[in-house]
Amino acid sequence: MSNSEAYEVPSYEGRQWWKEAVVYQVYPRSFNDANGDGIGDLKGITEKLPYLAKLGINVIWLSPVFDSPNVDNGYDISDYFAIMSDFGTMEDFDEMLETAHEHGIKILMDLVANHTSDEHPWFKESRSSKDNPYRDYYIWKDPKGFDEDGNPIPPNNWASEFGGPAWEWDEATGQFYLHIFFKEQPDLNWENEKVREDLYSMVRWWLDKGVDGFRLDAINIISKPEGYPDDPSTDFEKHTSSIPFVIANGTMVHPWMKELTRETFSRYDVMTVGETSATSPEDAKLWAGYHTGELNMIFHFDHMGVDNDPNGNLGGKWSYAPYKLTELKRILNDWQTTLAGNAWGSLYWNNHDQPRVVSRFGNDSDEFRTLSAKQLATTLHFMQGTPYIYQGEELGMTNVKFDSIEDYRDGDSIRFYEDMHIDHKRLSHEEAMQAIYIKGRDNARTPVQWDASANGGFSPEGVTPWIAVNPNYPAINAEAVLADEDSIFYHYQQLVALRRGKLKDLMVYA
Ligand code: GLC
Ligand code: CA
Repeated sequence: MSNSEAYEVPSYEGRQWWKEAVVYQVYPRSFNDANGDGIGDLKGITEKLPYLAKLGINVIWLSPVFDSPNVDNGYDISDYFAIMSDFGTMEDFDEMLETAHEHGIKILMDLVANHTSDEHPWFKESRSSKDNPYRDYYIWKDPKGFDEDGNPIPPNNWASEFGGPAWEWDEATGQFYLHIFFKEQPDLNWENEKVREDLYSMVRWWLDKGVDGFRLDAINIISKPEGYPDDPSTDFEKHTSSIPFVIANGTMVHPWMKELTRETFSRYDVMTVGETSATSPEDAKLWAGYHTGELNMIFHFDHMGVDNDPNGNLGGKWSYAPYKLTELKRILNDWQTTLAGNAWGSLYWNNHDQPRVVSRFGNDSDEFRTLSAKQLATTLHFMQGTPYIYQGEELGMTNVKFDSIEDYRDGDSIRFYEDMHIDHKRLSHEEAMQAIYIKGRDNARTPVQWDASANGGFSPEGVTPWIAVNPNYPAINAEAVLADEDSIFYHYQQLVALRRGKLKDLMVYA
């Protein structure tokens, strides 16, 4: 790597602006549609910055806005240096960034570096021939052998996060490539120094542009385990689909995080948060320790697994069993006490991959929705760590139940339904839909409900949004909570104000 001068590992001890921050996650496709084409966009975000400033947050984590064929709503990037046309232009981006800064709001980008889109020029080159200079940008392996019918056998039994094998056969060059997510999301080969250099210079390009940090997507699976051993938890019958421990936190992950930090983040005053599933509180001390020179904080998944059923007939995240409140408390407590004094944590109930918290851990009936949303907010914001609010959480937005799979947009849910109901007939329509109602990612992705007008004010009347609005928008929307001084919105506003103001010493540092 370029840097051979003496390097002082940054210390994250003591007071830091990102410890005192409150972050708001924007999922751009579903936030606000300014030009009336049914899709949320950058101008729509700029328009709502005064609303976010009123809530009191001071950082936005922006889910990916880069050019993408949208197989995974932007988490499949085909050009790291361009804005997806659905969302607008680079000028719209610059305007949003500048206006956010004027409001005292920083912007975190989403760094999707475990994989690219299969339409990224690197992958097009890579798959074109075995001796192409970009071949080694991705993970290609020979088949383990061939079955009786002459079909190639994948190098190991790994399952994709979205169902089915994690290996895709490429007829033209006679090898498999690895994709932990959709087959249109080939995994990058971080072992290749050129890949790392290209990624680091891309990160610097955005930081030079003035963005304030990154959320690092699926970052703890960039280093694959040596020898690519089989995963004992794979069970295609159950549609296993959670990142297994055998793939997570490979041996090179920490050296690479130190290298990435040295080559990029340490040169700027920015904030970083890594998405790390299958990671324990002890691991977190390496990832986000005050003196390890890696990330500022990570998102762990332990509390997101509390309502999984390890013994059910579905695998991982699609399974469901009622959770015990004492178990949820134990998990949160464990993270609080293990990290205290050693590493910084992040606090979240929701994101674009998880069901809505008021439906999941609260009670979304008319009687208790407001009360339980406030209670969950209070619990979260009084713990140590940097809190994240997911769009619509401050309105008490709930899960959704569409009757037909046709109304769902997330490929993960659609594949699950096809695999379990249509292809293998292991679940009835009702059973498959029930799992999607409880765990599906589209619960979080229905449009933000701004007011009681058509489309909840997300898109103008007469436009059909890319995914339907939750039919409860006439009752649950931003206009309504802003008009009610006792609302969930103002409860969040108070918590944020206390954390960033009068109670900072107690809520952030004590
Ligand atoms: C992360 C994202 C998720 C995406 C996946 C693949 O888990 O949060 O939305 O599908 O990575 O990029
Ligand atoms: Ca739009």
